[in-house]
Amino acid sequence: FAASFSLDPSFTVAPVSRRTFGSFVEHMGRCVYTGIYEPGHPTADADGFRGDVLALVRELGVSLVRYPGGNFVSGYRWEDGIGPVADRPVRRDLAWRSLETNEVGIDEFMRWAGKAGVEVMYALNLGTRGVQEALDVHEYLNHPDRTRLAERRRANGVEKPYGVRMFCLGNELDGPWQTGHKTAQEYGRLAAQTARALRSAEPELELVVCGSSSSSMPTFVAWEAEVLETAYDAVDYISAHAYYEPVDGDMASFLASAVDMDHFVGSVVATADSVGARLKSTKRLNISFDEWNVWYLRDFQDRLDTGSTEWPVAPRVIEDCYSVADAVVVGSLLISLLRHSDRVTVACQAQLVNVIAPIRTEPGGAAWRQTIFHPFAITSRLARGEVLRVEPRCPTYETARYGAVPALDAVATHDADTGDVTVFVVNRHQSQAATLTVAVTGFGVELRVAESWTLADDDLLAVNTADCPDRVVARPTADVEVTDGVLRATLPPVSWSAVRLC
Ligand code: AHR
Repeated sequence: FAASFSLDPSFTVAPVSRRTFGSFVEHMGRCVYTGIYEPGHPTADADGFRGDVLALVRELGVSLVRYPGGNFVSGYRWEDGIGPVADRPVRRDLAWRSLETNEVGIDEFMRWAGKAGVEVMYALNLGTRGVQEALDVHEYLNHPDRTRLAERRRANGVEKPYGVRMFCLGNELDGPWQTGHKTAQEYGRLAAQTARALRSAEPELELVVCGSSSSSMPTFVAWEAEVLETAYDAVDYISAHAYYEPVDGDMASFLASAVDMDHFVGSVVATADSVGARLKSTKRLNISFDEWNVWYLRDFQDRLDTGSTEWPVAPRVIEDCYSVADAVVVGSLLISLLRHSDRVTVACQAQLVNVIAPIRTEPGGAAWRQTIFHPFAITSRLARGEVLRVEPRCPTYETARYGAVPALDAVATHDADTGDVTVFVVNRHQSQAATLTVAVTGFGVELRVAESWTLADDDLLAVNTADCPDRVVARPTADVEVTDGVLRATLPPVSWSAVRLC
């Protein structure tokens, strides 16, 4: 099928926010233990961090990491994880029915984040805890000196404050599964009180209030509206969480998951803006899309309630093995996030290692890139400058979930400093290649193809494994050129591509 659009450097959405390329490390399964941290592993450094994983995290282009949960955080006592490791308690983690040894805590994680070169977004426990504990962990992290908790940090060997700027005011407290689950009224009040107290300590903080845990929650948008009635003035962001999977083999709908993400963002923005208007506020909240990914959630739910009486340490939990189709969907979700850069300025793919993650490891063994690693790494590397408005003309196809959806989706960025123009595009059609033409005459220079990558495969279910880690990679696009100011590319069925022109 034929598809086309025009790019113009003056039709911009917003600057590319580096924080769009965030990730998430939760004390869950093997994300921390035998994921980022494994003393004794052949590549481990003096602090016990796996060097092979650190190298992959840098290659992935992660800018920010949300930590330490997730559902885990709603029962977590941060002070268990500081001081001499031998004195730290082992605790039950009710969220994932496992034991937390607390070998990794704030100081270890901050050291790892420094090595990985990522900003930390710290999630507070507003499930079993409240304002005082939030103030305490903030004091430990960020207060310069003399106070009891700042001195404790110094005694633990960290002289300077960490300067963590972003804090999440709890996690998914609308969910009945959450330890300390609350009504919107209860949570809105606690979030507002915590935010105001934190701001009295440090006015420049950027604070994220919990939106709904999913757009399928019966209280979706009602929760946002009620929470924001109380907390609007005290916070800067509202969170969004979304996971996608093929349901009953419906690949056509799965490939259109970004249509749902677009709708989700539109609904949360509309709700937040309507509360702002009602409150006569001139302030505008942005979205922190701080959990998103493909997750075979139904498989996980089917295995719940096994009646197990075990409390394992770092068990294998939701170690989803990602396919070509999953990678194409991840690429398309990144397109959606970039398209909304005017309001979505923080996003975290959940999670980073082993647990629904782009990076997998074996204890004592290899680390490798899952299929979904590739679109993330390439988009993070190439999306620079300003996001450009893109209006593709293309056919639609029918889906059971979303009705008629465009067969092609795209976004583009323009870096005025380097002159780079990059197009990110997905062909969702399952049997037809797309013949794409893009008019690029408006940039005042003759553009050429500098690099072009396509991820596609005849086998949509092909995966990468420890034994075959590069079965699925992005390869140079077979058929792409620019002539007379028009980019022409042939995009295979079910494919994700990125084309950089300069
Ligand atoms: O990322 C896995 C889990 O999904 C997180 O702990 C929780 O916040 C969400 O429901």
